[in-house]
Amino acid sequence: MNHILNLTDIERVGREKLPDNAREYYIGGAADEITLHANSSAFHQIFLRPRILTDVSVRTLATTLLEQPCAMPIGIAPTAMQRLAHPEGELATARAAQNLAVPMICSTTATVAIEDVVKQSNANVWFQVYVYKDREATRQLVQRAAEAGCTALVLTADTPYLGKREREARSGFHLPPGMDLPNYRGLNTSATNVPQSKAKSGLAQSGLAQHFINNIDSSLTWSDVEWLIAQTSLPVVVKGVMRPDDAIMAWKHGAKGILVSNHGGRQLDTAMPSIDAVLPIAEAVGEVLDVMLDGGVRRGTDVLKALAFGAKAVFLGRPILYGLAWDGEQGVKRVLEILRDEFDLAMALCGCRNVHEITRDVIAM
Ligand code: GLV
Repeated sequence: MNHILNLTDIERVGREKLPDNAREYYIGGAADEITLHANSSAFHQIFLRPRILTDVSVRTLATTLLEQPCAMPIGIAPTAMQRLAHPEGELATARAAQNLAVPMICSTTATVAIEDVVKQSNANVWFQVYVYKDREATRQLVQRAAEAGCTALVLTADTPYLGKREREARSGFHLPPGMDLPNYRGLNTSATNVPQSKAKSGLAQSGLAQHFINNIDSSLTWSDVEWLIAQTSLPVVVKGVMRPDDAIMAWKHGAKGILVSNHGGRQLDTAMPSIDAVLPIAEAVGEVLDVMLDGGVRRGTDVLKALAFGAKAVFLGRPILYGLAWDGEQGVKRVLEILRDEFDLAMALCGCRNVHEITRDVIAM
């Protein structure tokens, strides 16, 4: 196993294990995939200015998110349909999250029911939601998540329509026979599942695109965020914020956190990289909201850079899927451990003993 030293190694072995259908779905971004690649490469353009001789022999990575304790400022971003990567799917991911004491954001479009994810893992699970055309379906999902023991809701707000994902269209993305989205089961609703049939002609919609067209409400505004917040006592995080003015709107409408995200480059291609968006957002709302980030984090130094720019934590999407595909729960655990150890070392080499000491001046500019 000593050939697996970093998240890129895990990506390589994970990709090899994925069936074509799942691989094209997971690795793809929108259109020319400019944002997909820029999310990581933007981190490479940022240089650090390490502080020396600060006695870094004792360190802690611990932090809080939404007033909940968290072993390190690294969490698991929502990614859909994880049983495409491994038979245990979201359950394996949640068990790894529990092991490392970090939050997992579980997707509504999960392939394991939210009740099973929470109860069978004991992890700190946040539930990702969309607001559907059918508000009753949304309300029932939110209620189910709370009853299952989720501790926050994460509203994906950047998806009035699904981005133009050409890999998904070419492969005619679909769920394999026997797999469905159990969070939709038993809902008293008109919301429909992701189709299992294979639509394979050049211009055909992928099954996921069809699901979005059927269900997602593209008329949402900030008043719908207020509506969602009124349905729950859980803290609500708005995901997909890329601008300080939207971050301020999220705060004014009652959100407790925001996730700076361009949906892993899967929505609007040429949207700016998440790391380039975070600083002005943190300056605008960092005192009143928990600012989190996803997109392109692959190294411990990336985590440190995000925190230096004012994020409280980063979330991992694709790396978790590659770990899951590679070795199930153990693979996800390995991804989190590698990133934890790299982040810990980066902190020490920058002269920081805890997350509060990761200040703006460690960035060279
Ligand atoms: C779903 O949100 C996706 O990005 O595929």
